[in-house]
Formats: sequence, C-alpha cells, structure tokens
Amino acid sequence: MKAVGSQLKHRVLVLIISFCFNTSHQLTEQQVCELCSGTVLNDTAVGRLCSTSAGRIDRRCCLKSDNKSDPERIIGLDLSNCSLTDVKDLSGASTALMIDLSLNPLVNISDAIFQGFVELNYLILPQDLLCLGGNTSWEKVEVKDGNRICKGQINMCNQTGQLSVTCPENSLCGRYGPGFFGCSCADNYHGYKCLREGEFPSLNVFASLGAATVVLTFLLWITQRRKVKPL
Ligand SMILES: *[C@@H]1O[C@H](CO)[C@@H](O)[C@H](O)[C@H]1NC(C)=O
Ligand SMILES: *[C@@H]1O[C@H](CO)[C@@H](O)[C@H](O)[C@H]1NC(C)=O
Ligand SMILES: *[C@@H]1O[C@H](CO)[C@@H](O)[C@H](O)[C@H]1NC(C)=O
Ligand SMILES: *[C@@H]1O[C@H](CO)[C@@H](O)[C@H](O)[C@H]1NC(C)=O
Ligand SMILES: *[C@@H]1O[C@H](CO)[C@@H](O)[C@H](O)[C@H]1NC(C)=O
Ligand SMILES: *[C@@H]1O[C@H](CO)[C@@H](O)[C@H](O)[C@H]1NC(C)=O
Repeated sequence: MKAVGSQLKHRVLVLIISFCFNTSHQLTEQQVCELCSGTVLNDTAVGRLCSTSAGRIDRRCCLKSDNKSDPERIIGLDLSNCSLTDVKDLSGASTALMIDLSLNPLVNISDAIFQGFVELNYLILPQDLLCLGGNTSWEKVEVKDGNRICKGQINMCNQTGQLSVTCPENSLCGRYGPGFFGCSCADNYHGYKCLREGEFPSLNVFASLGAATVVLTFLLWITQRRKVKPL
C-alpha cells in the first residue's frame, strides 16, 4: 500500500518537474538573438535578406513588423561562427524565414527544434548535418562552400508522392515546420479523431481540468499524510 502511494507521488512529482523544466527551457526572442556576440553582417545571407526586406538588425537577428500596429518579429537569425556545439532550443525565432547555423562545430541537431517553424524557407547548416526532416522536406538541397543549404520548405500536407499525409475525416492538415504536419479539427467538429459534431464543449473541458487538479491535490495530500502518521 505504501509502495503504491509513494510510486504515485513519484509520478506526480516527475510530471510537475518535467512541466516546469519544459516551460523554463524555452528561449524568448531576445534570448535567441543574444545566443552569440556580434551582429548580423551586411554581406551574409541574413544581412542581405534584412536589407531587401527593410528589416532592422538587432544583434544576431533581423526584425521586422509587417504592420505598423503589429510588434516586430524575427525574420532572420544568423548564428554563424558562434562556436555552438549543440542547439537545443530556438523557439523564440519560430517566425524566421531564414536561419544560418553555418561554421559551428555541430554534430547533430534534433528535428524537433524546428517544430512550428512554418515560415522557414532557407536554412544554412554545416555541411555534415543533413537538412532537417530529410531531403523530402525541402524543394532544393545544395552543398556549397562547406555549407548545406536547405531551400523552400515543402508543405507535408500537399504531398502527392510516396508520403501521403492523411488527417482524419473532418480535420484539416496544417504545416508545422520541416517534416512536420498537424491535424486540427474542422469547424464544428471536436473530440477524438474529430468524430463529434457540434459546439465545442468548453465548459466540460474546464470542468474536467478542474477535476484533475482536485485529484492531484488529493493524491499529494494523501501521500504526504501517510508519512506523518505513525505506523
Ligand atoms: C552595412 O549597411 C549599412 C546600411 O546600408 C551601411 O551603413 C554600412 O556601412 C554597411 N557596413 C558594411 C561593413 O558594409
Ligand atoms: C494590418 O493589420 C490590420 C489590423 O490588424 C489587418 O486588418 C491587416 O490585414 C494587416 N495588414 C497586413 C499587411 O498584415
Ligand atoms: C569566426 O570568428 C573568429 C573569431 O571569433 C574570426 O577570427 C573568424 O574570422 C570568423 N570566421 C568567419 C568566416 O567569419
Ligand atoms: C547525435 O548522434 C549520436 C551518435 O551518432 C546519437 O547517439 C544521438 O542520439 C544524436 N543526438 C540527436 C539529438 O540526434
Ligand atoms: C540529399 O541531398 C543531398 C544534396 O543533393 C545529397 O548529397 C544526399 O545524398 C541526399 N540524401 C538523401 C538521403 O537522399
Ligand atoms: C500543392 O502542390 C501543387 C503541385 O505540386 C501546387 O501546384 C500547389 O500550389 C500546391 N498547393 C499548396 C497550397 O502548396
């Protein structure tokens, strides 16, 4: 009985810790631009993108706002020659059109880093790294001057070739970064595989979230209490 209790408590703690770890690990826009000293240089790919699209250079980023009222977003990120041995998180730059990771001693990077980078259309990597998501995720892959250039992200939802992406009925396929896609329920559908039709039951969802919190609290209370009680 005690073993079950402490096991449960252990699981709950692991859950909470991994949640905290995940959220604190995301880099903001500013942190991504400061990953390395120096600024974007004029005669680099990101520098040229920035001058042709009338962006503003801030350290290693090119920022631009599409609209006077919209905040600026990162359109280019230049982390070339930054002595990076590992890249774990670039989430602050998920709006980027171009990312340069050339001239870094990178061995491999995980595909997951670029999840959600739907606008990324030009990625420069050290030659030894492969384009994320594989060649089939890009329109063109080029090896030039010691760099591998991945150009034109392919929309996985629009593949007529060997890789046919199928979302369940009543759902829409959306791109989600190189090699990734996501399925979201079409209007008026919800639930597992979008099988249920009708208004989204927001009240029920909040209610069950509330119930889950109550259960968690109760579990923690029970396991704590067990310790205090003399056996
Ligand atoms: C970079 O571009 C800016 C603006 O066009 C210019 O003022 C500056 O002299 C350029 N710097 C170099 C090193 O070319
Ligand atoms: C600019 O913002 C307005 C209001 O938010 C929006 O209606 C318009 O489509 C935006 N224009 C562009 C070019 O994004
Ligand atoms: C990379 O950076 C080092 C010093 O930080 C510099 O000496 C070298 O010229 C740079 N290389 C390139 C290709 O910019
Ligand atoms: C990097 O490569 C090593 C060995 O090839 C492998 O064990 C490791 O899982 C890789 N890491 C990632 C993030 O892909
Ligand atoms: C991907 O493309 C590059 C450059 O065209 C090529 O060297 C490489 O062999 C390709 N990889 C695969 C798995 O097709
Ligand atoms: C889907 O692919 C076809 C043929 O490759 C292309 O003509 C069309 O523009 C693509 N549509 C989208 C939304 O990318």
